[in-house]
Amino acid sequence: MKKSILITGGAGFIGCHVVQLFVQNYPHYKIVNLDALTYAGNLENLTSIEGAQNYCFEKADIQDAEILDELFEKHGITDVIHLAAESHVDRSITDPLAFVKTNVLGTVNLLNAAKKAWASDLDQHLFYHVSTDEVYGSLHEGGFFVESTPYDPQSPYSASKAASDHFVRAYANTYGMRTVISNCSNNYGPNHFPEKLIPLCINNIKNMKPLPVYGKGENIRDWLFVKDHARAIDTVFHKGKTGETYNIGGFNEWKNIDIVRLLCKKMDEKLGREPGTSEKLITFVKDRAGHDLRYAIDSSKIKNELGWEPSLQFDEGIDITIDWYLNNQDWLEHVTSGAYQDYYSEHYEK
Ligand code: NAD
Ligand code: DAU
Repeated sequence: MKKSILITGGAGFIGCHVVQLFVQNYPHYKIVNLDALTYAGNLENLTSIEGAQNYCFEKADIQDAEILDELFEKHGITDVIHLAAESHVDRSITDPLAFVKTNVLGTVNLLNAAKKAWASDLDQHLFYHVSTDEVYGSLHEGGFFVESTPYDPQSPYSASKAASDHFVRAYANTYGMRTVISNCSNNYGPNHFPEKLIPLCINNIKNMKPLPVYGKGENIRDWLFVKDHARAIDTVFHKGKTGETYNIGGFNEWKNIDIVRLLCKKMDEKLGREPGTSEKLITFVKDRAGHDLRYAIDSSKIKNELGWEPSLQFDEGIDITIDWYLNNQDWLEHVTSGAYQDYYSEHYEK
């Protein structure tokens, strides 16, 4: 069957890499990118494929159930890869309802549209839901999140993602929808919106602005290069077993403070600054409310069963990332003008 795949959130950070990979690698698939173009969505992320024959863009909001029905019909959607979400934990602390509306209600709207459109042959279609490791909660010293780790979300963001995961599983169980879910660790790489730790620090180091480290910088995250996540999504979409969950991660844990120091060191070199110059910008600030201490993903299942593993070492991925930001000043300027300044002052300068 010829596929017509609806990718939601394709103008965002991870979504744009997934859309590019599918458009370039699968010319026989039609790729429909649905995105509301919130502050986090940016069509400049997709210039490399915007003219491709097998690609089209639909500006739409997943909170709007009616438009979803229309788009399923208009494009004969056969499968969904669902990434659209409110994704920033700090924003979920100030405005939880926005996360309920997009991440929970939006996901249920999409499930309903798929169920309706695919009613006559539900078992021929796949609904792939892209989720996060944050649904498992916070780890202390040892151990990893595995697929059977009980859900224990701690922030409004992770609670909304956990709820959406539960709805996806409920639609599989109740209506027989073919679904698959993947839960990934922290991504980094090109096109990452500079509200998140790594791109925010790269941008601030470039501009000699303070580097806000929450608490003591002791929190630990497991970082994966975004294109490796996109490859994992490709693998799960094509080879994953219906009804299964796959954890995706890099076995690459870092304390926040060590990442910030690494960025300072590398950028001093790249910008021809005296060693130690950028480290002086590190500023310890008030901790995030309810800050999860540690995330660490065990991704053995996807490696053993589907043959995926990360392709890049962190050192190489970070170099590619910094170079991308230094070579894409226009992109950075566009996304940090206007509303970004208001968000930044409200969050960091009050
Ligand atoms: P992002 O914030 O960069 O992009 C989200 C995209 O969704 C944007 O293009 C935005 O315009 C769109 N969007 C938001 N609300 C919408 C709505 N109501 N209707 C339609 N489109 C809407 O997010 P990201 O970092 O690329 O994350 C993508 C997905 O991957 C999310 O589901 C997130 O939970 C998950 N995830 C992210 C990470 C990470 O490290 N960034 C890790 C694991 C999982
Ligand atoms: O684990 C996957 C998740 O990773 C995704 O589901 C989320 O969508 C994504 O945003 C990310 O969540 P985090 O909260 O881990 O990412 P963030 O970049 O916001 O923060 C990384 C760590 O850095 C975290 O411990 C908080 C800290 N931090 C963050 C910012 C923005 C700071 O110390 N200072 C900052 O200014």
